[in-house]
Amino acid sequence: MSEIVIDRITSSLPDFLAKQEFSKIAVLVDEHTKELCLPLISEHLPPHSLIEIPSGEVNKTLDTCQSIWSELTNQGVDRKGLLINLGGGVIGDMGGFCAATYKRGIAFINIPTTLLAAVDASAGGKLGIDFNGFKNHIGLFQEPAAVLIDPLFLQTLPERELRSGFSEVIKHGLIADKDYFHQVTAEQLNQSNWNAVIAHSVHIKNEVVKNDPRESGLRKILNFGHTIGHGIETHFLGTDKHLLHGEAIAIGMICEGFLSKKLCGLSEDELNELVSIIKGIYGKVEIAKSDFVPIIKNMYQDKKSTNGLLNHSLLKSIGEATYDIAVDEKDVLDALFYYNQLPD
Ligand code: GLY
Repeated sequence: MSEIVIDRITSSLPDFLAKQEFSKIAVLVDEHTKELCLPLISEHLPPHSLIEIPSGEVNKTLDTCQSIWSELTNQGVDRKGLLINLGGGVIGDMGGFCAATYKRGIAFINIPTTLLAAVDASAGGKLGIDFNGFKNHIGLFQEPAAVLIDPLFLQTLPERELRSGFSEVIKHGLIADKDYFHQVTAEQLNQSNWNAVIAHSVHIKNEVVKNDPRESGLRKILNFGHTIGHGIETHFLGTDKHLLHGEAIAIGMICEGFLSKKLCGLSEDELNELVSIIKGIYGKVEIAKSDFVPIIKNMYQDKKSTNGLLNHSLLKSIGEATYDIAVDEKDVLDALFYYNQLPD
């Protein structure tokens, strides 16, 4: 597992760089992290080059990878080089993928600048890109050399981004820690101690990943809300109803909460609590009935779907998850209807 440090970046970055020599260092940024985050670390970076890509999930593509690989080549980065991914989930997933495949693999570290990347995407070794519109369709597992988390970067985020990342924090509570779920949802985005929240979420994720790094079993519980959520995210990607990852996962958690009650014994009271808390934070998104079938079609591309079955990770109760639950299309349709019928 990677070294994960939650500390001031002004000390964790120089500490990491002092431990090892790299022949060249390239820093991957997008237009936002170049403007808002790079200045926070630049005086702690040795000579380096910059690789800038356009922000957003819509650019997590093979075309963007080609431009990253071209830049690494043009800048003469060799196998002893280091790529520093400075950004959110897209930069970490795609930068890691490019580093892990460039010259059969160079070292990379993640400096997550969003809540989503800090608590979820930057650790655990899942790397990849979207392909033909499907989320994370091409990729591999490889751990970064280190993940350097500094909650200071959260101050650079628009509220919508922070809220999006917060759905992964809620998910951690729902799948593994009921008290944490209540504690974080009571304070919502006004957490008095983001350090502690990030540390606890990272701890929950690490405990799961440590037991199943390649997602052959237990790690699937981290996908609660993601089977339907990814289907929805993919459906709206690149449209004017585009949803951020965590916004789609929030809807997915409500739909999969419904399935959890139907199939795994989640109590009605706990379902109602989950729905009222998530809807209170994310509101309700209009998803037309005509969107249901294409959303379900997308779900067959989910990596948990095998032999034509829509496998889900669901809740037995708040704080306890289970996985590999085969759900038929009719139940998924009912779950989407359930969301659709909720009061605004
Ligand atoms: N984002 C879920 C996982 O890393 O397994």
